[in-house]
Amino acid sequence: MKYLIHLAIMAIIISCTGRKEKVEMIETVSIIPIPDSFTYSTNSFVLNPATKIYSPKENKVEAEFLQMLIKNEFDFTVSIQSSECESNCIKLTTSNLPDSSYHGAEAYHLIIEPNQITINGQSNEGLFWGIQSLNQVFNQTDHQDGYAARIQGLNILDQPKFKHRGLLLDCCRHFFSKEVIKKYIKLLSYYKMNILHWHLTEDQGWRIEIEKYPELTEHGAWRIESDGSKYGGFYTKKDIQEIVAFASEHQVTIIPEIELPGHSQSAISSYPYLSCEQKKVSVANDWGVFKEIYCAGNDSTFDFIENVLKEVMELFPSEYIHIGGDEAPKYRWEKCSKCQKRMVSENLNDEHELQSYFIRRIETFLNAHNKKLIGWDEILEGGLSPNATVQSWRGIEGGMHAAENEHYAIMSPTSHCYIDYPLDAIDLKKVYSFNPIPDSLSKDKQHYILGGEVNMWTEHVPDEKNLDNKVFPRMLALSEVLWSGTDTSRYKNFRNRVYNHFHVLDSLGVSYGAEAIPITLITTGDSTYITKNNRGIDLQYQVEMEDCTMKFQQYESPVYTNKDCILKARAVKNQMPYGETIEQQFCEKAKSVKSISYRTMYSENYVGGGNYGLLDGKLGSLNFRDGNWQGFWGKHAEVTIEFENQQLINQISAQFYHYINSWIFRPESVEVFTSENGINWISKGNTRTEIQKKTRGKMIVPMTINFKNPLHVKYIKMKAQNILQVPGWHEAAGADAWLFIDEIKIR
Ligand code: ACM
Ligand code: ZN
Repeated sequence: MKYLIHLAIMAIIISCTGRKEKVEMIETVSIIPIPDSFTYSTNSFVLNPATKIYSPKENKVEAEFLQMLIKNEFDFTVSIQSSECESNCIKLTTSNLPDSSYHGAEAYHLIIEPNQITINGQSNEGLFWGIQSLNQVFNQTDHQDGYAARIQGLNILDQPKFKHRGLLLDCCRHFFSKEVIKKYIKLLSYYKMNILHWHLTEDQGWRIEIEKYPELTEHGAWRIESDGSKYGGFYTKKDIQEIVAFASEHQVTIIPEIELPGHSQSAISSYPYLSCEQKKVSVANDWGVFKEIYCAGNDSTFDFIENVLKEVMELFPSEYIHIGGDEAPKYRWEKCSKCQKRMVSENLNDEHELQSYFIRRIETFLNAHNKKLIGWDEILEGGLSPNATVQSWRGIEGGMHAAENEHYAIMSPTSHCYIDYPLDAIDLKKVYSFNPIPDSLSKDKQHYILGGEVNMWTEHVPDEKNLDNKVFPRMLALSEVLWSGTDTSRYKNFRNRVYNHFHVLDSLGVSYGAEAIPITLITTGDSTYITKNNRGIDLQYQVEMEDCTMKFQQYESPVYTNKDCILKARAVKNQMPYGETIEQQFCEKAKSVKSISYRTMYSENYVGGGNYGLLDGKLGSLNFRDGNWQGFWGKHAEVTIEFENQQLINQISAQFYHYINSWIFRPESVEVFTSENGINWISKGNTRTEIQKKTRGKMIVPMTINFKNPLHVKYIKMKAQNILQVPGWHEAAGADAWLFIDEIKIR
């Protein structure tokens, strides 16, 4: 790195008396993921054009890679020789590491000392990771192009905790060029991540050339957007060969994902005979889960998939093929005579077992070709295929269940690993706190957890800049979790190393995002505090009410928020707004509430502030993951409020969310009951909404019941009717429907 870092070699710790008391070494380079064991020294190695790389023949590839790194960073070419050198030498070897606790294939020992640099890998993989650590040191070395550079002395012994360290990249919802894929392979490798899970087929686009089925890319790779424009793209076989070779040079394995039986509408659009109804459908141009899936009763579907997989296996040397298996609505299968016939002939009890049959049949095919199958955790439903590896996304339970049953598992739960989610849901610290090994998994089964992935779905990521912004720096947290293990006490140290890597990322052309939302609002009682999450910022706020709006002003003390208002808060850096402005809408809270109780419980995934969340005065926004929405999955919401004493009430209202792409529907109706004793209830009115179930787009739907004569009530109950199942016309017909409420307002 040319113009940067003047990191102190010595930190002088001055006591409160002002006397120099102790002189300590501190880290001078920031290595991510942090090595297992390392020491820094004040010595250094001088790298110059006369430096030689010594490497026996078996390490030629690694030697040339190092030669290229040196050329790129320092702008001179060092020579490679196969005979030993005495001084000014970088030695690359592969042999058993002296310490027997470092005997995994990926272990390495890197020593930088005055006369030489040595990297010994337990295997070529280990040697390569050692070179990447040295590369990070190079990138943080102050120097001038073409001139000698002083390389910080150190001694690192290192190896990873987990062998599967990956990034899922969805190139279907949005397409990314070959150059972007290569950039990501390079970045994965730089941070010692070794898996690119490449999501190549989807409802919204088929992205891999298959010679036997040209329509998949001539037609299935393109969708007509709602504005009439055509969007798409695909990778030719030649592109893929080039990308696979590039990945191999970077010690990265590409696992292709070919989705089945669901998320297959682009294939069905290209070849309608693959579906139950065999009707022409378009390539999807909206987000969601679609009910057009491969027919499980038709043998020609399996012929198609096997022919596709044959070409896929020829392209990708990976031992694994990912077959998806997630989010396959069973609606079509329930109504298809061929699928039903298959269930009878195969003695299957329900459509989940039919999905298991489907996956098992594909697994048998893959295993016969020496490939292993990975599927999302839905492949557990209806019985797991004999050798399948499970990728756990709906929590870690699926992966844990697989491991308990002696199947391998990869962890990428929505709670910590979905980096398509916004920073207020998953920030750098949250990813860093991820532990792929569930607490309750017995010791003897822990080795079945192979590792994890961060999942980069791209519905809302249209281009490379947005992609970089989502992936970085959060991917670095997973890289450290998977290589170095989970240790939340190290977070501050990690974050500081991430800050030191920002300039490295700049030079690698990465438009990284922030590590956290700059500010957080914390409401306690009637007051809201605004807190800083980042260094070097000031805070400003404004309050909007119906009849007046103040200007942004400096935040000094908590804001009174028990009233109908919108609080806007923003960070300011160098007098300029920094990051997004945060908005929270408040309403006056219900008074004299003694308790709130639920007949049906809200989902753990959408707790919306917990038991009192419906009465906390905080309204939800159009981001249904903002923490204010309480979700009920496949059940009605029935909530009872008891007051301290009788209250006089004119009106009760609530807000619901409606966004059918995510299976969230406004209620059928809302009914209100009152009671004197909490036992006998009298209905006091009900209401329905104007908007239709089919209405698309994200919206907040208020529903209000006014009482002609004010009611004196001790207990009040609100029942909101969930539609329970996603209706037949919907692309995810038959799935459980969500009902979302943010607040119950009582006037
Ligand atoms: C997934 O997020 N549907 C695996
Ligand atoms: Zn069928």
